[in-house]
Amino acid sequence: MKIAVVGATGLVGSKMLRLMEEYGLTNVELLPAASERSVGKEVEFAGKKHKVVSVPDAIEAAPDYAIFSAGGGTSLQYAPLFAQKGCTVVDNSSAWRMDKNVPLVVPEINIDAVKDTDRIIANPNCSTIQMVMALAPIHRAFGIKRLVISTYQSVSGSGMKGLQQMENEEKGLQSPVMAYHYPIHHNVIPHGGDFDDQGYTTEEIKLVNETRKILRDPDIRITATVVRVPVSGGHSEAVNIETEKPFDLGEVRKLLSQMPGVVVVDDPARNLYPMPLYAYDKNEVFVGRIRRDESVPNGMNLWIVSDNIRKGAATNAVQIVCKLIEKRGK
Ligand code: A2P
Repeated sequence: MKIAVVGATGLVGSKMLRLMEEYGLTNVELLPAASERSVGKEVEFAGKKHKVVSVPDAIEAAPDYAIFSAGGGTSLQYAPLFAQKGCTVVDNSSAWRMDKNVPLVVPEINIDAVKDTDRIIANPNCSTIQMVMALAPIHRAFGIKRLVISTYQSVSGSGMKGLQQMENEEKGLQSPVMAYHYPIHHNVIPHGGDFDDQGYTTEEIKLVNETRKILRDPDIRITATVVRVPVSGGHSEAVNIETEKPFDLGEVRKLLSQMPGVVVVDDPARNLYPMPLYAYDKNEVFVGRIRRDESVPNGMNLWIVSDNIRKGAATNAVQIVCKLIEKRGK
């Protein structure tokens, strides 16, 4: 089995290599690929050093799987070329997510959306993944009517650039690398991606469209505010949910604790609730502050936290590959 990791020198790509090790995907020929400037550099995988190759060289080697985390442009350009070679691409960028022929997958929820003939599979946006992990069991049981989402997203969501800007500013330096229009240290920035003419950002629209696609319900009414906060890793989300059917909070807690990959941390009397510091480097999604919203008939509030580089990106992508190998035999 040959597996290419495109963007292997990046923040998410290098985490993908660690996740492949954790999930036992080590008995493979690894093809780490990146931009031309990294060709010949070395990455560590399964106790050995591997030379970074160019993307065209990785395509030439016709791998069985290619996991991409190298930006939308790279995915648009190269994913079809891998697919033409019979390779299955799992793409972490937003390039293919809303293509109606491309399944958008969180394995615990909708791995069945992947057909045997599919050669490009999209990994959802980090904020969407952690949110739908908590929403899916609630939607199945009570039907979600409306969502009001506020995110508190860490700088690692902007790749190495985000981390470098914050680290420089923490040291009191004017950062030569700017991921944001403003300083992030000591600040909170209500701006993720680009603005549309309605005043929403691309990151907010992703939450709307991707959630509807994964939960297979185009009628859920959704509004979102995406905010960048000076946290190095781990996204947090306050989500207000209105359901069609009445629910019992005890039943909601039970459904959430039974959902694979979700951990309920909710004991206000002991000051227990999820926080990014404690979700760091974990594969699970943590849910707490589970409480009724008394302002509508069937309303509740959740606080959802996860490591955006793990379940929000690398873990989800590697889990997809593992499920497909299980299903397809290769
Ligand atoms: P490189 O390290 O050679 O620039 P991050 O999100 O942490 O910034 O990482 C982005 C990843 O995508 C890196 O591995 C980067 O490689 C890779 N990448 C960026 N542009 C291209 C490209 N045009 N072709 C292939 N890989 C690319």
